[in-house]
Amino acid sequence: MDLKVISLLALLVILSHANGTKYELTFADEDIFSTCPDADPGALDIHGLVDISELSTSMGADGITIGGNTTLTWDIEAGDRIELSVTLLYLDRGTWIATAFSISSKDFCKVMYDKNQYWYKYWTSHIKNDVRDVCIKAPGTKMMYETYVLTLTANGLGALREGRYKVKINFKAFSANGVERPTSICMNIVGDLFKV
Ligand SMILES: *[C@@H]1O[C@H](CO)[C@@H](O)[C@H](O)[C@H]1NC(C)=O
Ligand SMILES: *[C@@H]1O[C@H](CO)[C@@H](O)[C@H](O)[C@H]1NC(C)=O
Repeated sequence: MDLKVISLLALLVILSHANGTKYELTFADEDIFSTCPDADPGALDIHGLVDISELSTSMGADGITIGGNTTLTWDIEAGDRIELSVTLLYLDRGTWIATAFSISSKDFCKVMYDKNQYWYKYWTSHIKNDVRDVCIKAPGTKMMYETYVLTLTANGLGALREGRYKVKINFKAFSANGVERPTSICMNIVGDLFKV
């Protein structure tokens, strides 16, 4: 990722609310995805999930332009079931408080390409090679992305307060007989939201 180069620039994304209110989102970490300070033992960060050395990202007024490839690195088995949970937290006087927004799936690989899911719009619909058979379970598999602009929209989030937010993304893998694998993936996206 080439984000280091632009770390001195403000990292901005415009977020539009359904009612037309515009917000500015500034990422707190130049790499966007940071490690979870409160992660479970065995939790790996984004590098434990994918190699991003062939991924390019750049910030612009319309959003984040993404292109290139990621290569799966998470060492789990093809028959595993993957659980995903995504929660949005708000920093309220020094304490992270969960907001009403959270999404989860007990079997992420079944709904990886489900058009009704947030991740389809922002992520999996932009993968050019179809990886539904391997999902995120075959280390070494490349996901090749079309170049696209990631623009966040706040539809369905309800009223937004200005301030610091954190999205916590957690993947867990379970063997066919239901035993959790020793490693999981946890990553945070931390940003500050302002009305513009
Ligand atoms: C992505 O992978 C393809 C196939 O291996 C390769 O041709 C291309 O150069 C890669 N893109 C980047 C940005 O490394
Ligand atoms: C739009 O929604 C935001 C967040 O709920 C609110 O702060 C703002 O006042 C609303 N604006 C209008 C024009 O309704």
